[in-house]
Amino acid sequence: LLQICYLLIYLAGKSVGVAAKVYNRYDFPPHFIFGAGTSSYQVEGAAFEDGRKASIFDAFAHSGRFDDTNGDVAADQYHKYKEDVQLMAETGLDAYHFSISWSRLIPDGRGPVNPEGVEYYNNLINELVSHGIQPHVTLLHLDTPQVLEDEYGGFISPRIIEDFTAYADVCFREFGDRVPYWTTINEANIFVMGGYDTGDSPPGRCSPSIRSYCMKGNSSTEPYIVAHNILLAHASTARLYREKYKAKQHGLLGFSLYLYHFIPASNTTEDALAAQRAYDFFIGLYMDPLTYGDYPEIVKKNAGNRLPAFTKNQSKLVKGSFDFIGVNFYNVVSNKHTNLKPEPRDYIADMAAEWIFYNQTSDIRKVDKIPTLPWGLKGGLEYFKNVYDNPPIYIHENGQLTDHNVSVNDPSRIEYLQILIGAMLDAVRNGSNTKAYFVWSFLDLFELLFTYKKGFGLYYVDFDDPIRSRYPKLSQKWYAGYLRGENVTI
Ligand code: NOJ
Repeated sequence: LLQICYLLIYLAGKSVGVAAKVYNRYDFPPHFIFGAGTSSYQVEGAAFEDGRKASIFDAFAHSGRFDDTNGDVAADQYHKYKEDVQLMAETGLDAYHFSISWSRLIPDGRGPVNPEGVEYYNNLINELVSHGIQPHVTLLHLDTPQVLEDEYGGFISPRIIEDFTAYADVCFREFGDRVPYWTTINEANIFVMGGYDTGDSPPGRCSPSIRSYCMKGNSSTEPYIVAHNILLAHASTARLYREKYKAKQHGLLGFSLYLYHFIPASNTTEDALAAQRAYDFFIGLYMDPLTYGDYPEIVKKNAGNRLPAFTKNQSKLVKGSFDFIGVNFYNVVSNKHTNLKPEPRDYIADMAAEWIFYNQTSDIRKVDKIPTLPWGLKGGLEYFKNVYDNPPIYIHENGQLTDHNVSVNDPSRIEYLQILIGAMLDAVRNGSNTKAYFVWSFLDLFELLFTYKKGFGLYYVDFDDPIRSRYPKLSQKWYAGYLRGENVTI
């Protein structure tokens, strides 16, 4: 009987169906930006050429975690940037989002500027501009110069604030006349959680007592110290830009966060509070100071004196120090309440919430009977709108991870992009101040956890080929059509 019931429900659903939705890029507000992105270490290669020195990403990639692969050559964009810009133009991108390698520009982290680094980024930016593609530039994407890490612990030390600001100054001075959008630090929250609590992204620090693969670190204190220093480095950079460059260059400056949409695992109040705590620790730790000038109360309470406090001046400096928020969206997490453990606790345990991940590569239309990902993107954007005064949002990353051997045949990525862009349109129509969308990634690259085995690219890169040939995937063809104004039906 039960089976017959299910069958009837299924057939009823089929016959009623869900009305197809048709949209195209002109349904977005005028000047909405569509692009694609990459990051320096993940695509450039030329890791030790023309004066570049190592960053924490190099050290991490060479630490033996990745079966001997690394980003030394990666997609070799350093030598192939002209070809890549040509491909971007063929795809019809409005904008390219990339990052500058600090240790290519200033190999020792501070002091002398590397003229070959300046030349490379000038060439790339000029090539983009001459093809009518806007450069959107991030200053730091998991690649703090290794010398600063060795000398004083990189972002663990407040000394990073001055060095980061000085590096940004060089970038604004050299490239700011052609760069309309700057972002200081990519995915601050993943940098903090992955780099200093779980240890699975650069610089790979965490408490050896909690995770056996970590040589050094302190997952209880460092995530908070680093978050604090990131906010101050960002804010000091924003002040510099506003005081010294804004009037001439008219650019906008943003901060970037990874967005998980957190939802309660059940309809209990306990789980609802757990999901709220996850939001407060993962997003609020940054957005509350940026919007309101201080950390969320629950973070202050659970972290106690492990969380540094802002002075009055720091709070003033941080509050409002952005023109937009860069958001990278890939996943939805549901949270179950857990009891707060006694100290010492790591940053993640301070949330007192279990994380249950949805699998982004399973059927994106229906996971647990809800269209999880598009629904999650809408929910996340709604959260920013409601809780943080609807800041301008630039979606810097969104895309689908597939096995690299899927090659150029990637219909699932097309479906993913169509549905996710459609969800973003719903959010915009619902009042979200989202202004840009960048597919991650423009081409296959050195992926953080999956090296070259899996990729997000619109272009397939043959990593066995010494010249790293690029081949358009089906998704590139679809995106090019979309950017020309073709309709999408979902
Ligand atoms: C997060 C990071 O910014 C980027 O480096 C990474 O490749 C993608 N998202 C996908 O995991």
